[in-house]
Amino acid sequence: MTIRYRPRPPFIPYYDRASRWSVLVAHRRCGKTFACMQDLLKRAIECERTEPRFAYVAPFFNQAKDIAWPYLKQFVAGIPGCSINESELRVDLFNRGRVRLYGADNYDRLRGGYLDGVVLDEYADMDPRAWSEVIRPMLADRGGWATFIGTPKGRNGFWDIWDRAGSEPDWFRVMLKASETGLLPASELEDARRVMTPEQYEQEFECSFQAAIQGAYFGREMQAAETDSRIVRVPWEPKLQVHTAWDLGIGDSTAIWFVQVTGNEIRWIDYLESSGVGLDWYVKQLREKPYSYDGHLLPHDAEVRELGSGQSRVETLQSLGLNNIRVIPAQRKEDQINALRLVLPRSWFDAERCKRGIEALRQYRAEWDDKRKAFRERPLHDWTSHPADAAMVLAQAVPQPSSAWSKPIKYQDAGVYV
Ligand SMILES: Nc1ncnc2c1ncn2[C@@H]1O[C@H](COP(=O)(O)OP(=O)(O)O)[C@@H](O)[C@H]1O
Ligand SMILES: [Mg+2]
Repeated sequence: MTIRYRPRPPFIPYYDRASRWSVLVAHRRCGKTFACMQDLLKRAIECERTEPRFAYVAPFFNQAKDIAWPYLKQFVAGIPGCSINESELRVDLFNRGRVRLYGADNYDRLRGGYLDGVVLDEYADMDPRAWSEVIRPMLADRGGWATFIGTPKGRNGFWDIWDRAGSEPDWFRVMLKASETGLLPASELEDARRVMTPEQYEQEFECSFQAAIQGAYFGREMQAAETDSRIVRVPWEPKLQVHTAWDLGIGDSTAIWFVQVTGNEIRWIDYLESSGVGLDWYVKQLREKPYSYDGHLLPHDAEVRELGSGQSRVETLQSLGLNNIRVIPAQRKEDQINALRLVLPRSWFDAERCKRGIEALRQYRAEWDDKRKAFRERPLHDWTSHPADAAMVLAQAVPQPSSAWSKPIKYQDAGVYV
């Protein structure tokens, strides 16, 4: 069988690759989703294993459905013996192979199976756990391959992968800049230049990882923390009590920050996040840490009584033995954001333990309205929301003077790192 299509020349080395891992950093509209879908389908058809399984993952399910699904359907249309399952965004091939589309906003759907190959599109926008916790293990059984594609979005997890691919074996990596591919007409690029800031243009068309994340609420403050070397090793100081600040998920993640406050300094020493476990699990985790707790800050919705149990989550946590719970009253989102903006310049973060939380604070951003080409006034709801909301809970409590905040001791005092 021959499938007829004309690959765009810059993608030919990718089609011909022999490495297991690949990363493609490419400008907008250069055809990366198209090319990776072609390659995914070709490899699925050529796969000689029994029941081969392939997946394409976009940051959001709707994105996969709107952009990649039409490509895939178009590609299989001419291939005999294939069936299309619209509701599952899945194509069953004549060789018993399957290609299915997913969104990383609901990556739990992927759990349980195995994969022979996977494409992670617009990886810079994806919850990094989708890869590390779910997708990577699914490749283990059959030695499956993975491709990360996208346009840069600052020095986030996508940058880490690009950087690693430059020095580790068995990686294929390529960067496609608009000035080099010639895929977009000069007039088109000129037009884009006019409506974008130079920084935006560099990111979107010249693949620069330097630009700040557009619409990020705490981008500037987190950048300053980085520049001032406040994202370092911040040891737990046993002389100080620990405050926790929570965001409680019902269908999704619960996030908890562990913070020590001394004088003017806010030290973010630890971070915990999980989903699909009961409140007892979190209480147990808190107990297993060596910290002595001053108290626990919870968002206002923790006081709402649940229909099933008739109990609020504050009451549940209390019955599990958590003392000194303080519920932060509801505030407008913009006030919460401002509160955290004021706290971040005097914050220190433990780079290792708070890695995921820090990354989320860097990326937490406003929703983009593609029709109006402007940011909406509300935050995008994605994996970054939970850590950011929990951090804002803490920020709202900080300015209120409380005798519970400890007396100042110097940051340089030796701490214990466990
Ligand atoms: N090899 C190709 N042949 C014909 N059209 C292509 C090819 N590759 C990409 N395109 C077209 O280019 C446009 C952008 O492709 P897409 O893959 O969605 O870009 P992006 O790089 O932004 O993911 C689409 O309209 C697609 O149909
Ligand atoms: Mg795309």
